[in-house]
Amino acid sequence: MNIRTILIEKAIAAMAGAGLPEDTNPAVTQSTRPQFGDYQINAAMGAAKKMKSNPRELAQKIIDNLDVSDIAQKTEIAGPGFINIHLKPEFLAQSVQAANSDAKLAVNEHANPQKVVVDYSSPNLAKEMHVGHLRSTIIGDSIVRALEFRGDTVVRQNHMGDWGTQFGMLIAHLEDQISQGVDLDSVALADLETFYRDAKKRFDDEEGFADKARNYVVKLQGGDAHCEKLWKLFIATSVKHSEEVYKRLNVTLTQADIMAESAYNAELNDIISLLKDKNIAVESQGAQVVFLDELANKDGEPSAFIVQKSGGGFLYATTDLAACDYRSNKLGADRILIFVDARQNLHFNQVELTARKAGLLRDETSYEFCPFGTMMGADNKPFKTRTGGTVKLADLLEESINRAAAKLAERESDLSDSDRSEIARKVGIGAVKYADLSKHRTSDYIFNWDSMLSFEGATAPYLQYAYTRIRSIFRKSGVDAATLNSDVAIVEPQEKALALKLLQLEEVLDLMISEATPHVLCGYLYELASLYMTFYEACPVLKEGVEPSVRDSRLVLCNLVSKTLETGLDLLGIEVMEQM
Ligand code: ARG
Repeated sequence: MNIRTILIEKAIAAMAGAGLPEDTNPAVTQSTRPQFGDYQINAAMGAAKKMKSNPRELAQKIIDNLDVSDIAQKTEIAGPGFINIHLKPEFLAQSVQAANSDAKLAVNEHANPQKVVVDYSSPNLAKEMHVGHLRSTIIGDSIVRALEFRGDTVVRQNHMGDWGTQFGMLIAHLEDQISQGVDLDSVALADLETFYRDAKKRFDDEEGFADKARNYVVKLQGGDAHCEKLWKLFIATSVKHSEEVYKRLNVTLTQADIMAESAYNAELNDIISLLKDKNIAVESQGAQVVFLDELANKDGEPSAFIVQKSGGGFLYATTDLAACDYRSNKLGADRILIFVDARQNLHFNQVELTARKAGLLRDETSYEFCPFGTMMGADNKPFKTRTGGTVKLADLLEESINRAAAKLAERESDLSDSDRSEIARKVGIGAVKYADLSKHRTSDYIFNWDSMLSFEGATAPYLQYAYTRIRSIFRKSGVDAATLNSDVAIVEPQEKALALKLLQLEEVLDLMISEATPHVLCGYLYELASLYMTFYEACPVLKEGVEPSVRDSRLVLCNLVSKTLETGLDLLGIEVMEQM
């Protein structure tokens, strides 16, 4: 169900009938206030400019040709030539009823599903996941869920950083630990941060260690079996750490989605040969470099994109070019979405330009670098521990769950301890996720425990609470929500506002998917919950004296709100509970 799409089709037909130029944008939008109707067709103003005619007259011509009698009760011209559409209550009522009895809440599958590769999370395995990985992981995961919900074919790719010079140092240190009899799981890698720090310290201070580390890099890249075995051991342990975080965070990534940097090792030579053959890469001070005029600085000097180091080594850049080839040419992706920190903007511009020139990215593949801003502390600097260290993601999540438990403990409850701790887990994780996802993807935001865990305002706890309130209505009513299929009547303005919002889920998902911006869904769910609260105040459901038919109609609305909240939150990777 997409009212906007229905109106666009009707507007296009009307504009043709009214003799407007064929390329006129119908400019159909949701109205911002009830007095402007529910939707607007704003085409007249643009067309009048082009045709040098009067916009209000054009608007009237569009209306004369507009056939919306099946869905609208009134159309009117406002201001300079807006056409306001007031939808019919019967249309809204029937649509709500249909959505309520549909497993997908009347959200249609895409008519032309796309194949979408989504590169997200992608931590470097040398260290443990820290807060910097939160955004890529949860933003990417919500987009993946929304794409699948709309029927696209998604290939998740966790482009983990498992290759590079640091690994020489790490496996050299690991080897020594093992030879000293240290039990891997329990000690050496239980805390990757410490392990990394110790290795780095030895690299900087201990005689001979740095040479050994460098030698191990060369050996590893040359395929030496001993080094490879150590490396695999290290990688496996580090992957295990990330898996725990994924599970905690309720993200859908699994081992099968790992397509780490090293997966492209065998292709890198060919990539460089291709770039050289096509004269795209040229030698410069022993390195292979692609000079990009498109990204020239203000003095006109082209941007230099190094694709092979002077010693012959490959880089992050080379791997990303190979990844383009794999995703576009082998997998046949229509879209490639990459969720990475905004600081890598230049890198991905360079990758795309180079890959397009070399044919590593087909014209038909849209390559979408989806940057995000930084999570800041109260001091408006990147979020750190009190002592200035990086915050481990696992610790942050743990703290959120504990804080949620403390807040929940302040409330009256007759739930068992195990129920309460399960609720605290869902609230704590949900709060962190919603706080992050609800900010515009590209902005920096300030991390704040109190606001994210509040039961008021746009937060996960508020939405989860709204959901539990509806569930409790059903427990009290004795009506089975699953088989509820009563006739719906939209009478009160609060019912109308709620019904309209409920029917806009697909529109929101389309926006979220095309722009890769989960905040639009977050905002929608908050507006929905708020409209529900207003509706519930104004329109009694279970109160004595309410006509059974009115009660049942309102129960359908309640039910669709709860299902929409549940589905919407699930698309954000946030769990709901029956009670809290
Ligand atoms: N591992 C990188 C980092 O932590 C992110 C990788 C993103 N994906 C890519 N194809 N380069 O910064």
